[in-house]
Amino acid sequence: MVYSRIAGTGSYLPEKILTNKDLESMVDTTDQWIRERTGIEQRHIAAEGETTCDLAEAASRKAIEAAGINVDDIDLIIVGTTTPDKVFPSTACLLQKRLGNRGAPAFDVQAVCTGFIYALSVADQFIRSGSAKTALVVGAETLSRIVDWKDRNTCVLFGDGAGAVILQASDQKGIESTHIGADGAYEDLLTVPVGISSGFERVQAGDAFIQMKGNEVFKMAVKTLGKVVDETLSANQLEKSDIDWLIPHQANTRIITATAKKLKMSMDHVVVTVQKHGNTSAASVPLALDAAVRSGQVKRGERLLLEAFGGGFTWGSALVIY
Ligand code: COA
Repeated sequence: MVYSRIAGTGSYLPEKILTNKDLESMVDTTDQWIRERTGIEQRHIAAEGETTCDLAEAASRKAIEAAGINVDDIDLIIVGTTTPDKVFPSTACLLQKRLGNRGAPAFDVQAVCTGFIYALSVADQFIRSGSAKTALVVGAETLSRIVDWKDRNTCVLFGDGAGAVILQASDQKGIESTHIGADGAYEDLLTVPVGISSGFERVQAGDAFIQMKGNEVFKMAVKTLGKVVDETLSANQLEKSDIDWLIPHQANTRIITATAKKLKMSMDHVVVTVQKHGNTSAASVPLALDAAVRSGQVKRGERLLLEAFGGGFTWGSALVIY
């Protein structure tokens, strides 16, 4: 049996930090409100001219080094992102050029905050089927570019960053299963309602901003993530107690706590980085994973449940023996 095993992880956060205090001078908000409602204390913001591909490259180089592989070994590159550098080529192709890899298939996956889980799921299918042996899977975003910095309902939530993993074919257990889903009926609850083919003038005018019905998104996220957790456990005939670590999408501590409660997990076994990173969309799960690996929290052989929920709506999970 062939498994996809995580051989190395990496991440990168832009230098600039925007604190809740900084936001107090930008919109009508308070540090206390943001902490109480979201758990967020600060977020990183890409410098002017710093792009999603820049962040993805830095994270990928660290993952490649951690895995001890050569760039030429990579035979699949997938980038989960909603904030690509260009309409085309894809950020994955731009990343491939930067890294100096030639020939591997390279493409982006757009599933907003679930982008990394979707990308991981696709890469896992390639490896299990024998179509790839070494995949670079990245979640990278410069969400600050699509945030309306005058809208207090959204601007306090998001940040920039990138995380990456190298997946390698192995006969040792790695990814046990992935589960992804979507329901486009919820389009209007979380959206940037303009794009290339519908309203490019507004994109050019710099009017392409996130719009969100926060409260409704919150309820759907909690409900859907609860279902995803059940589906993942039952597909693998596992009990809640079989999970060593929950590595959730870092949107909001209240959503994270609700999922941990569902799993009857103590918060000591939940990786939480949202306070420092904010919601970095597709980058959030691989950023949290890398933080947990590098801090020594997560150890080889432990079972991880990764999960995410995002615009679309999209959702997904991955059960992984690290
Ligand atoms: N500072 C101060 N007040 C704010 C604020 C801010 N940054 N943002 C909103 N408010 C106000 C609202 O205007 C509202 O005021 P009103 O009662 O006078 O109308 C009040 O706070 C409560 O707003 P509400 O939306 O009910 O708050 P909430 O408890 O639902 O928290 C979120 C708001 C956005 C933090 C919460 O809904 C959330 O986290 N939702 C999920 C968002 C998310 O994770 N999206 C990405 C999913 S991948």
